[in-house]
Amino acid sequence: QRRIFSGIQPTGNLHLGNYLGAVRNWVALQNEYECIFCMVDMHAITASLLNADELRNSTRELAAAMIASGIDPKKNILFNQSQNPDHATLAWIFNCVARLGWMNRMTQFKEKAGKDRENASLGLYAYPALMAADILVYKATHVPVGEDQKQHIELTRDIAQKFNHDYATELFPITEPLIFGTATRVMSLRDGAKKMSKSDASDQSRINLTDTADMIADKIKRAKTDPELLPDTAAGLEGRPEAQNLMGIYAALSGQTLDQAVAVAAGKGWGDFKKLLTETAVSVLDPITSEMRRLMADPGYVDGILREGGEKARALSAPVVKEVYDTVGFLRP
Ligand code: TYM
Repeated sequence: QRRIFSGIQPTGNLHLGNYLGAVRNWVALQNEYECIFCMVDMHAITASLLNADELRNSTRELAAAMIASGIDPKKNILFNQSQNPDHATLAWIFNCVARLGWMNRMTQFKEKAGKDRENASLGLYAYPALMAADILVYKATHVPVGEDQKQHIELTRDIAQKFNHDYATELFPITEPLIFGTATRVMSLRDGAKKMSKSDASDQSRINLTDTADMIADKIKRAKTDPELLPDTAAGLEGRPEAQNLMGIYAALSGQTLDQAVAVAAGKGWGDFKKLLTETAVSVLDPITSEMRRLMADPGYVDGILREGGEKARALSAPVVKEVYDTVGFLRP
């Protein structure tokens, strides 16, 4: 019996990395498994506090983007994290399970805190313990994510193992990451060594799901390349991060393997390849964007879905929290 959980932060727009690395895989999984997809608004305020209207709006927009991408809100549980306080309850207990040494090794914390670590929030430091709680409060067995979240899933496993060991129980499953597809790590369009990310200062570095066809064309046209010709085989992409990234994006968007994509593009100049990539990107993203706009025209619709999802989520986590209370020795109300 598999139970899938995954989360995404409502900070700014959904970009191509989120879509290809995560959301598209979720769409594929929803037909086979029980899935819970969460807009993690409590994680969204760890880097800095956001304007309340903006956070509410980003949460709605993200939910609309997921539905527009093909996540069926009837089949899956779709909700925003803060609607289920059980996440925060379990996160506190996990704060007491996780060791400082474990948290100090988290690369995302180091990246996000930067040099001014004294000034990072306590929430940013504890972020991975809340993430473990998101997953384990539903006893989720599998978590589909992009490559960059692998370390956090490993920490989730460590927390589950220590909790189970210290309380001599088998309450929590040891969760597996699901990292698959041809775009598990989409890189910036401006720098093939940097991850495509919402927090990059340059909007040229990423393709957002809300970008118009003209914006997509412009970003791809200006995307960094190298002076060589496109290779004949996938092995020829080795050591060419920008070529590898653009070819990976093309393969993922067109539903081809990397070998097939390379074969299609072989012999083309960068200009022609970029045209092909633009056409492919627009044909995949345009229907999603227009459906998103349609859904956002009625914010009540999205709010209703999230509220219903929140109720279902609470019903699933309540018995787990009871078990945890009894295991830890908290008297229940
Ligand atoms: P977030 O919001 O940064 O990203 C959401 C999902 O998109 C994937 N992703 C990428 N995949 C490929 N290439 C990229 N450039 C790229 N950028 C992002 C991420 O791997 C992720 O799957 N900590 C999580 C949110 C979270 C969560 C959870 C995830 C909170 N609780 C519980 C899983 C389970 C995050 O910041 O994702």
